[in-house]
Amino acid sequence: MIHLDTAATTPVRREALEAAWPYLTGTFGNPSSHHAVGEAAAAGLEDARARVARVLGARRSDIVFTAGGTEAANLALKGLALASPRGKHLVTSPLEHEAVLASVEHLQRVHGFEVSFVEVAPDGAVTPEALRAVLREDTTLVSLALANNEIGTVADVRTLAEVAHAVGALIHTDAVQAAGWLPLTGLGADALTLSGHKIGAPKGIGVAAIRGRLPLEPLVHGGGQEGGRRSGTENVAFAVALAVALERAEAEREARTARVAPLRDAFLERVLAAREGVLLTGASPHGPGERLPGHASVCIPGLSGESVLLDLAERGVIASSGSACAAGSDEPSHVLTALGIPREVAQTAVRFTLGGDVEEEQLEAAAAAVEQVLALR
Ligand SMILES: Cc1ncc(COP(=O)(O)O)c(C=O)c1O
Repeated sequence: MIHLDTAATTPVRREALEAAWPYLTGTFGNPSSHHAVGEAAAAGLEDARARVARVLGARRSDIVFTAGGTEAANLALKGLALASPRGKHLVTSPLEHEAVLASVEHLQRVHGFEVSFVEVAPDGAVTPEALRAVLREDTTLVSLALANNEIGTVADVRTLAEVAHAVGALIHTDAVQAAGWLPLTGLGADALTLSGHKIGAPKGIGVAAIRGRLPLEPLVHGGGQEGGRRSGTENVAFAVALAVALERAEAEREARTARVAPLRDAFLERVLAAREGVLLTGASPHGPGERLPGHASVCIPGLSGESVLLDLAERGVIASSGSACAAGSDEPSHVLTALGIPREVAQTAVRFTLGGDVEEEQLEAAAAAVEQVLALR
C-alpha cells in the first residue's frame, strides 16, 4: 500500500510511543495529586509543556494541552473572543477547517458576533490588502490558517498578523497542517493551534498556544487544570508523545522539505499530464513557501473523484477527496467552491499528501497508477 493521505493522519512514531509508555504504566499518577506518584506525572507533563513551548518559541504558560486540533481551535476562538473586552467582530476566510468555521458560526449564532469573510485569491492566498479591507476598529479576532488542509496553500501569517495588530485585533492561526513542514516560530500570532496525530503522536491530543497574558474564557469547566484554561485530568502520556513528535518533526523539517518537495513536483507533473484538463487546485508549487511541500491536489473534470479514489485504492494507492471530515459526503468541498470552482468540478477533487518518509519508487508507482486510472475513462 502507498499511503498518500498524510494530511488526514499519520502513524504514531516509535519515539513518541516509547516516551509515552512510562506515563501509561509505572508513572501513572494524576498530575494534580500531591504525592510522589502524582508529582512524577506532573513533572512529565511540565517537561512536555516546556518542550512544546521551546519548539513554538512560546512561554510554558502559553501552552494548553487539549484533546486535539479541533478542541484547540475552539478554545482559541471562543476563549479569546468571549473574554475580549473589544467589540464583537470576527474575521476569517471561507477556506478554514470546519473546527474554525463552526466555532465562528457558534459565536455568531449564540453570542451575537458579526463575522466577515476575507476575500481569497483563486489559488487560496489571503493578501494583506484583502485582510485590511474587512478589518474594523472593533474587530476582536482574526483566524487564518497557516496552511490549508485541502489545497496546501500557505499564508504569510507574519504579515497578516501585523495587519491585524495594526487595528488592535488578535490573530489565531491553525497550524495543524503546517507542523513539520513550515517554521512555527516568529509568526507573531496571538494563538496557534496544533494536532498530535498529524505529526506522529496519537489521535486525541492537541495544543493551543495562547499568549498567557490574554484573557481566555475556558470552554471546559471543572478542577482548573492547565492554569484554569482547560479543566480535566491531563492526558500526560499523550502530551509527552506530542512533545517528542513535535520536536522530531521540527528537527527533521528542513531536510524533509528539501527531499519531499522535488519528489512531489515530479509526481504532480505526471498527474497533471495524465489527462487533458486536469486542474491544479491551490498555489503553484513553484513559488517558494506558497504551498506545502508534500501536498498535491487536483480536480479531474469529467470524472468522479470518488471513483478515481476507488480505482487507485484497487491499485494500492490511498489518497482522498480532500478533508477527511468531508469524505464520503456528496457535497463538494467548501474550500474549492469558495475558490470559484464550479460544484461539478469540485466534486472531482483528488488530494495526494505525502509523508516525510515517502520513497521515490512509491511515487513513481503511484503516478503510474494515476495514469492508468485516468486513461480508463
Ligand atoms: C487544518 C486542520 N485544522 C484542524 C484539524 C482538526 O484536528 P483534530 O483532528 O486533531 O481534531 C485538522 C484535521 O483534519 C486540520 O487539517
